[in-house]
Amino acid sequence: MADNAVLPHNDNVVWHTHPVTRQDRELLHKHQGAVVWFTGLSGSGKSTLAGLLEKELYQRGVSTYLLDGDNVRQGFCRDLGFSDEDRRENIRRVGEVARLMVDAGLMVLTAFISPHRNERQLVRDMLPVNRFIEVFLDTPLKICQERDPKGLYQKAHSSELLNFTGIDAVYETPQRPDLHLDGKELLSNLTGCLLGFLNERFMLDP
Ligand code: ADX
Repeated sequence: MADNAVLPHNDNVVWHTHPVTRQDRELLHKHQGAVVWFTGLSGSGKSTLAGLLEKELYQRGVSTYLLDGDNVRQGFCRDLGFSDEDRRENIRRVGEVARLMVDAGLMVLTAFISPHRNERQLVRDMLPVNRFIEVFLDTPLKICQERDPKGLYQKAHSSELLNFTGIDAVYETPQRPDLHLDGKELLSNLTGCLLGFLNERFMLDP
């Protein structure tokens, strides 16, 4: 069985091992595949930071793909809302897609609130060892509310929007993230910090 393959639920479904492996694809890309998983409140800056990081990686010749919560929810996960159950399914699906992309040898960046520890752990467990980098973008709720880029905190406060993370839905702070970033820092500093971490871990600079 291929490394880290998830056991099929159905005994009549078997895993096919193909001649071209993740390791072969990584040789072509000249780097390993991994997931940089941003978690944090809405308005914490996950998408912005992931976008800036992707641009830097792209300029260094790294094969990337950015999965963004707001975008994924317009297509692949458009059937899901914001109940705990739907958020779990959202993260499970994104985890599976990220797993395939890592198997393709890509450096995957994800920007999802992903409020539950269990689901973040589930995604970590889906991936080969050391290929899941949990990045906690720690921006205080007060600042996220002041930014309120989409006016959603205002709606949540006037009960126009229910189950809003940080207001009437839970956000479980990561206990041991791989990187804990201060969301009040300049984006350029945060991007530099991420690049340094990824260079060291994945030797992205040849
Ligand atoms: S997650 O909780 O399932 O990980 P996800 O990252 O996909 O959430 O989507 C979050 C985005 O959806 C927010 O940035 C915000 O723009 C929007 N959104 C709409 N309703 C809610 C809500 N009730 N709670 C949080 N975000 C919401």
